[in-house]
Amino acid sequence: MDGYCSRRVIMFLLFAFAAISRGYGQESTTLVPAIITFGDSVVDVGNNDYLPTIFKANYPPYGRDFANKKPTGRFCNGKLATDITAETLGFTTYPPAYLSPEASGKNLLLGANFASAGSGYDDEASMHAITLTQQLEYFKEYQAKLAKVAGSTKSASITKDALYVLSAGSGDFLQNYYVNPLLNHAYTPDQYGSFLIDTFTNFVKNLYGLGARKIGVTSLPPLGCVPLARALFGYHEKGCISRFNTDAQQFNKKLNAAAANLQKQHPGLKIVVFDIFKALYDIVKSPSNYGFVEATKGCCGTGTVETTAFLCNPKAPGTCSNASQYVFWDSVHPSQAANQVLADALIVQGIALI
Ligand SMILES: *[C@@H]1O[C@H](CO)[C@@H](O)[C@H](O)[C@H]1NC(C)=O
Repeated sequence: MDGYCSRRVIMFLLFAFAAISRGYGQESTTLVPAIITFGDSVVDVGNNDYLPTIFKANYPPYGRDFANKKPTGRFCNGKLATDITAETLGFTTYPPAYLSPEASGKNLLLGANFASAGSGYDDEASMHAITLTQQLEYFKEYQAKLAKVAGSTKSASITKDALYVLSAGSGDFLQNYYVNPLLNHAYTPDQYGSFLIDTFTNFVKNLYGLGARKIGVTSLPPLGCVPLARALFGYHEKGCISRFNTDAQQFNKKLNAAAANLQKQHPGLKIVVFDIFKALYDIVKSPSNYGFVEATKGCCGTGTVETTAFLCNPKAPGTCSNASQYVFWDSVHPSQAANQVLADALIVQGIALI
């Protein structure tokens, strides 16, 4: 079964499932009324365009394969995994970046995206980004605006039935823990991970308190396979940096345990941990199985370590001609083609949230 065909089958099953579980005759054409997104650059759709930070993706070659070839602030050549998921759930437009002018009026009915590149579980580490704490404050503000647009009954039901997505943690390790001697000398990766999990737990409790009931959180990816990690830390190792991957897996175990506890303690809460680790690791280990040619470096030319090693540098030569052959678009973020594979895995794992 090719990718296109299997996607159609999945969508058919999803819609059939939704029709049965909700009863026929629903006029709504999306499987959830709204999508509310929190977190980091993996899911940022342009909030950082409005912030004084160097972590922006609002210039070419970002967006090269997006609608109208437009750089939007997404850290990708095209669609994010969450964009693809929104489409699979029946959305024809994406919930807007909260800081953008589009985040007003009826557009708010679809949800909103609060994510900001450079943020993470640890507020202290998110330089010039919207911290997760501030993202929750914006969410409260959003709820007040939504109530004005939709009325209080409808806005309450949107809040309750919306899909909430949280992506965080990669930056906490790659941009903070591993490069900050004050942290990595004082704490083991395991201790630092436990600290991050505490903030995760608090975040979910607060979100639940505000009415959220269906929450999907991404696991850590295989941090040691990200091109940036290979470039900065892979002096001796040819493949992925195994200790980073071990740290990520250890963190993911804690995340799964914390999520299971939260679900137990909070009536009506459904929470799913999306296993990005396995999905991305499988692609990196066997790229040709998924139609990829290059899994070790990003498609776009990046800057120096001192400036923007994370990001595409429009002045650096050598951006690849066909990003569909690359697992990674820049030195950290998957290409649209890889996001498609990830999104296919997410939708299957997330069925309990729909
Ligand atoms: C880009 O690469 C993909 C995957 O190898 C291939 O299917 C596609 O035809 C290529 N596109 C172009 C324009 O060469």
